Amino acid sequence: MKYDRRKFIEFLGKASLGTLIIPPFLVSCGNTTTPIKNKQITDETFKRLKNIALENLAPTTKDDLVLTKGLNYHTIIKWGDSISDNDTFGFNNDFTCFIPLDKNNPKDGLLWVNHESVNSLFVCDFDENKYDNPEKQRTKKQVDLELYNVGGSIIRITEINGRWQVVHNDPHNRRITGKTPIKLNWDTTIKGESTVMGTNSNCSGGITPWNTFISCEENYDGFWGETRYDENNTATHIPSDHGWEHFYNAPPEHYGWVVEINPKDGTAQKHVALGRFSHECCTLYELADQRVVAYSGDDSNDEHLYKFISSKPNSLKEGTLYVADTINGKWLPLDWETQPALKDKFKDQTEVLIRAREASKLVGATPLNRPEDIEIDPITGHIFITLTNNKPKNDYNGSILKIEETNGAFDALTFKASIYKAGGEENGFSCPDNLAFDMAGNLWMTSDISSSAMNKPDKPYMPFKNNSLFVIPRYGEDAGKVIRVASAPTDAELTGPWFSPDGKTLFLSVQHPGDETKDIKNPTSKFPFDADGIPKPTVVAIQGDLIEKMNFLKQIESS
Ligand code: FEO
Ligand code: CA
Ligand code: CA
Ligand code: CA
Repeated sequence: MKYDRRKFIEFLGKASLGTLIIPPFLVSCGNTTTPIKNKQITDETFKRLKNIALENLAPTTKDDLVLTKGLNYHTIIKWGDSISDNDTFGFNNDFTCFIPLDKNNPKDGLLWVNHESVNSLFVCDFDENKYDNPEKQRTKKQVDLELYNVGGSIIRITEINGRWQVVHNDPHNRRITGKTPIKLNWDTTIKGESTVMGTNSNCSGGITPWNTFISCEENYDGFWGETRYDENNTATHIPSDHGWEHFYNAPPEHYGWVVEINPKDGTAQKHVALGRFSHECCTLYELADQRVVAYSGDDSNDEHLYKFISSKPNSLKEGTLYVADTINGKWLPLDWETQPALKDKFKDQTEVLIRAREASKLVGATPLNRPEDIEIDPITGHIFITLTNNKPKNDYNGSILKIEETNGAFDALTFKASIYKAGGEENGFSCPDNLAFDMAGNLWMTSDISSSAMNKPDKPYMPFKNNSLFVIPRYGEDAGKVIRVASAPTDAELTGPWFSPDGKTLFLSVQHPGDETKDIKNPTSKFPFDADGIPKPTVVAIQGDLIEKMNFLKQIESS
């Protein structure tokens, strides 16, 4: 890693070296959330970049992980694989995050993987299509299988001869499941508990400046239902699709939080101060005084973008949660003490945080088109947020929103919002979801056209074919263009892009291949092409010349 860091500094140019800030965060992790200032690119570098031949893949319906020229992949782990004598890898892998065990060795470390959801047909042989009668519920045994297959995994992985492998039975290997006890990081109980049952719906996530994993609870209502309030503030339980609440007494209020996991021992906590909603991700930034700023989006039609600013160093508890008014460029505090509208409606700050969606509307937050992943541009410090779509508002293709905080200060309370790039045929992508900046500031992006609408003649997604991975190069002839570099197997979505610390591997999840399968004997996908023919969510390592050249880790031939 030291070698790569030196090369990276060389690339930035001698002239800029004196003023350059390369934070340890950047070099310890390919995914930076700390901007580099005063970046300079030499003319020579520009010339060489012209020689990177980026092949824009044509959209395809092929049932395979198809990669553009200059990329290759190998499988790291897939659903059902044994990680230890006690545990197996969960279903529908999403967010991945790699933290090296020794910061001087980028080829050995702990990989966190979210398990967002389950396809009941594969996981517990429950065919939802057969049971529209509400009396036909999953059995407790089936629910237990589902609870086991959500949450997350910690696995030690090591790169040997260019291939990442799981270190089976490593003492760090463990599962966090729908049943693992998790503490609430809050001073009062929620629905009578300070420790709750498990985590689920873990979609995307993040990393803390103190090197722990962040995993975000998104569509928890599908498993535990939701509490709705009428105009008289009377609560009603809206039942879940999976019916877990028939067997376990866990209220919806225990879910929809940001979860932090200690890589070393798997202990976890839920950060109540960051609010409760369908958290897609949580992207942290550390201020000079070690206070923390955390951005998070609520992935639901017309929901909101949030920012927490801590009042104490390294705290995700003491501080203020704000919600975005993107029309007027204001962060609005969700603070019970100072907001009369909140004081009128809710009994205390805890209730404001539990019912953050309602609180946001009372203070005038802007409804957005399903905010998904959030990344901070390492070069400019601008914040990029994917807005995946909002079908009732006729936004089928989504866009990427850009936020520029006033004076570049992450704790500013005003900002400028603009659309960076719109989805659609002109830009070649639809339904943007995950984002990742690489070491050189190229932006990688995945798409999430829902499997039920993909490749359907009566839906507007035909031109885009299968979900894909794209890169928006920062420099060179293709700068700013959206280039398709990988295409997913049938029904799948590519999720959780995360770069290894040396910048040479892109960890990526292949989530829900064969999701539209109605008959397990005749699945719609066979990826990853195991002998049993069953499609399996899989984590892969993508490598190759293209990544190395785009990150200046490899000499590009001069013309
Ligand atoms: Fe789980 Fe918003 O994607
Ligand atoms: Ca997502
Ligand atoms: Ca991301
Ligand atoms: Ca999505």
